[in-house]
Amino acid sequence: MSKSVLVTGASSGIGRATALRLAARGHTVFAAARRLERLESLAAEATGTVIPVQLDVRDADSIAQAVRTVEQTHPQGIDVLVNNAGYSLLGPVETLSADEIRDQFDTNVLGLVEVTRAFLPAMRARRSGTVVNVSSVLGRMTVVGTGVYGGTKYAVEALSDALRLELAHLGIDVVLVEPGFTDTDLDTGRSEGSSTIPDYAEVETMAAEYVEREMKKAISPERVADVMVRVVEARSPGTRYLVPRRFAGLIALLNALPDKASDRAKLRSMR
Ligand SMILES: NC(=O)c1ccc[n+]([C@@H]2O[C@H](COP(=O)([O-])OP(=O)(O)OC[C@H]3O[C@@H](n4cnc5c(N)ncnc54)[C@H](OP(=O)(O)O)[C@@H]3O)[C@@H](O)[C@H]2O)c1
Repeated sequence: MSKSVLVTGASSGIGRATALRLAARGHTVFAAARRLERLESLAAEATGTVIPVQLDVRDADSIAQAVRTVEQTHPQGIDVLVNNAGYSLLGPVETLSADEIRDQFDTNVLGLVEVTRAFLPAMRARRSGTVVNVSSVLGRMTVVGTGVYGGTKYAVEALSDALRLELAHLGIDVVLVEPGFTDTDLDTGRSEGSSTIPDYAEVETMAAEYVEREMKKAISPERVADVMVRVVEARSPGTRYLVPRRFAGLIALLNALPDKASDRAKLRSMR
């Protein structure tokens, strides 16, 4: 059955690949992001229906306008909301400014909550719908330099678990998609060399080299998009989709170990 799906962060990376895949499968896609020109070229390139929607998840008026745009063609609201918009602020916690941290939570957490809140009333009225929240492997395990970004994704995990419990009796599914390193232009939210604390130089180099090594094994955004298609088309979707699945063993192992043993293993593997 063809569904109507709004994808946030559809102007690049995972969101773009998801919009293209869903449209090609016959679903109606509302592709949302701030860069309208990118959404317009996405719509032109897509096989199927892609409707560009300019949206800044941090702006209440912009969210309200997105709801009105959807209602013009879908007065009953959308079937699926994919909360994918986000970026990753990386760096040792002490080196990040309060403004940088606030902005990161504003986009990745509050933005997701506010967009969800805007589209839920129509889903509640219909007693059906699915909310898909894009978290990360870094919302299930923490390594050097990922405290703040990971913090936003742990928050997305907790919010999703709560929403799933709160919305179950209203026929609304809540699903987490947790990608590992994915080959996109994911913004790091920082300018090169912005740390000013020499004590962290070694830790930062270690984190940068770790990310570089992991990025060599990165999956394609299309691989995540394929999982999104499975979720959208599932009669009864699961609660968590790790992409790729191979991270499940590592996460289970790190959680089973005592914290200090887990810390040693992480530091050894990052060096
Ligand atoms: N790449 C990875 O390794 C990886 C791994 C795990 C999880 N993830 C998660 O996957 C999601 C997508 O990331 P990506 O890797 O595909 O990165 P990306 O290519 O940089 O895409 C991020 C998207 O988010 C949008 N966005 C950012 N701020 C926004 C705002 N305030 N309002 C509306 N849209 C906004 C951007 O569009 P505009 O700039 O046009 O608004 C862009 O379309 C993120 O939530 C990220 O945390 C990524």
